[in-house]
Amino acid sequence: MNRYIIHTFGCQMNKHDSERMAGLLESHGYTAARSDDEADVIVFNTCAVRETADDRMYGQVASLKAIKTGGRPDVIIAVGGCVGQRDGEEMLRRLPHVDVVFGTHNIADLPSLIEAAAAGRPTARVLDGTEAFASDLPTVREHPWHAWVPITVGCDNHCAYCIVPAVRGPERSRVFEDIVAEVSGLVAEGVLEVTLLGQNVNSYGRDRYGQPRFAELLRAVAHTGIPRIRFATSHPKDLSDDTIDALASVPSLMPYLHLPVQHGSNAILAAMNRRYTRENYFERIDRLRGAVPGIALSTDIIVGFPGETDEDFEQTMGLVNRVGFDHAFTFIYSPREGTPAASLTETVPREVSQMRFDRLAELVRDLSFASNRRAVGRVDQCLIEGASRRDPRVLSARTPHNRLVHVPVPVDRSASLYAGSIQPIRITGAHPWFLTGEFASGAV
Ligand code: 5AD
Ligand code: SF4
Repeated sequence: MNRYIIHTFGCQMNKHDSERMAGLLESHGYTAARSDDEADVIVFNTCAVRETADDRMYGQVASLKAIKTGGRPDVIIAVGGCVGQRDGEEMLRRLPHVDVVFGTHNIADLPSLIEAAAAGRPTARVLDGTEAFASDLPTVREHPWHAWVPITVGCDNHCAYCIVPAVRGPERSRVFEDIVAEVSGLVAEGVLEVTLLGQNVNSYGRDRYGQPRFAELLRAVAHTGIPRIRFATSHPKDLSDDTIDALASVPSLMPYLHLPVQHGSNAILAAMNRRYTRENYFERIDRLRGAVPGIALSTDIIVGFPGETDEDFEQTMGLVNRVGFDHAFTFIYSPREGTPAASLTETVPREVSQMRFDRLAELVRDLSFASNRRAVGRVDQCLIEGASRRDPRVLSARTPHNRLVHVPVPVDRSASLYAGSIQPIRITGAHPWFLTGEFASGAV
């Protein structure tokens, strides 16, 4: 009877937290439902970073009222994540059909809050912060061969546009030995890839006097024998030479780095409180490329930050061109209440932001396409993620450089034979957002 579904918005930390929520609910006797119509408990794990996701989530939760008024009044609707943390009780007032609101620091309370709501007591419980990491909770992983491993939570950087420090709290590092022990356990379970998570992984250990820092953690995690390691997110100002050396010398560290630059103009970088210049950024990129030739690079960029002039925007275009990112995630600035930038008055008109955004998006597409074309002819060890969403006879795989490859399932073979294995793939074709490939000799 007790079936649950979780809708996840936002970043990789939320994906991780959702896997823990699922684990927690299953350890309390719940089973997964395939749709809202089948579910007795509907959980939203929300994101407050940009207005669009925030509004979309509020819209979706609001529309669930129909489920309750349409004959299923006992369905429990729970809202967690960053919007839950931010809005708390206020959400129960705005959306009276919501039963449970919880925050980013009290995921462990979810089962008891659901129970209370089922007994007729709608509840909002949001804590300010806790030393407990959700990684101590049971988990149901989306893919058995991949695990998210948080190493820090929260953020101390206070970039002017960003709501994260307000909702996730100050940065706290997880105990070194706990992380290494968790990854060792994952190796024993047959996990092939871990992604180490934090808002700013490069500052790992800074808050724990005498603790090893990030590069040392990377080496210790590699020592467990885990075949593949990725990590996100890196702040350019904290990307140390030591970490670059680790990327160059540890074979299980994948040759891919997500290094959000956010903007190309020094004036806007300063207004954003990013604490580096475009010159600093170029220096880090040059050093990375010198140490790890061919490393794939992706970034995040914001367009239309208050005060952004045409010249500032051209600086962003110039920076993106010069670095030649393999991929970039692009965003139009959206003011978030409670952030320093929200009070800036020199706002950029929406049409101007949109025009700049479209130009940047076209450049990003061209660069991504060029990067994919350069990959044609390579044979790479790729992690097969499973059948592609569109065609069950095509497999989705990831190259070490994090490129997506579509590979036809060999005739007479089943797709499930390959899911969660590492296979040699020859890249045969390039599209702007993905590659095509075929199994190379040596594949199973
Ligand atoms: N408006 C637009 N984009 C934002 N990001 C964070 N806050 C905002 C905002 N207020 C972007 C940044 C960050 C990514 C996760 O989201 O580029 O790196
Ligand atoms: Fe937000 Fe900046 Fe922290 Fe990233 S580093 S989470 S953008 S405050």
